[in-house]
Amino acid sequence: MSQETLVTFIRNHTRLDSPSYLPEIKLHLADEAFDLWEATERQMGTTHLAPPFWAFAWPGGMALARYVLDHPDLVAGRRVLDLAAGSGVVAIAAAMAGAKEVTASEIDPLAVTAITLNATANGVSVRTVLGDILDGDGEDAQVVLAGDVFYEKLMAERVMAFLERVTRRGAQVMVGDPGRTYLPRTRFQQAAVQQVPVNRALEDADVKTTTVWRLPVTVSPDRTD
Ligand SMILES: C[S@@+](CC[C@H](N)C(=O)[O-])C[C@H]1O[C@@H](n2cnc3c(N)ncnc32)[C@H](O)[C@@H]1O
Repeated sequence: MSQETLVTFIRNHTRLDSPSYLPEIKLHLADEAFDLWEATERQMGTTHLAPPFWAFAWPGGMALARYVLDHPDLVAGRRVLDLAAGSGVVAIAAAMAGAKEVTASEIDPLAVTAITLNATANGVSVRTVLGDILDGDGEDAQVVLAGDVFYEKLMAERVMAFLERVTRRGAQVMVGDPGRTYLPRTRFQQAAVQQVPVNRALEDADVKTTTVWRLPVTVSPDRTD
């Protein structure tokens, strides 16, 4: 699938708009998921069976992006990784807040293309990584941000193991979550609670109480650097 095909598909199925909760950020957004998912399968074929997560700003990502914009010291001058970035909403917030370098990780090629389009629309630079990095430790990222990643059991277990490896090498981890089933709440400290307006077609609600969580740093005792 050529890059041009992916760009055309995104432009044809979205509009450039700001979530009401994040008027500073423009994203290529869709209004509803099912027709878009069907169009994705029809036009992209079997290589794109993932739901179109990239066409929405999820409550966890919006809360985390809001937190980053309101607390720029968290990321300013630091290398930031946005894990499972979707539209790239959190990565874009980090770049706007003055991060030195921002990387967005995704497994969906359409998301990676959307992140680049969205970053450009906001006049910021975000590096994208296509593929699964969950068996690693986030390499040299000093801050790892993850919006709405605890919605599925196996993924949540792998994400949690990844985030714990990140904290063991001394990096900071923040998570945005609207109460998804598989978030292991007791492992986190609450940083902020927000009332986030959401897309009723996705969440069956108009507003979701969403928490920004901090994972305490637990540097491994056998680390020397
Ligand atoms: C609910 S969306 C959240 C997107 C964004 N963080 C937000 O809050 O708007 C979850 C995203 O995780 C991505 N994803 C799933 N498994 C992944 C993995 N192993 N590595 C990176 N991204 C992954 C999906 O493609 C999807 O875009």
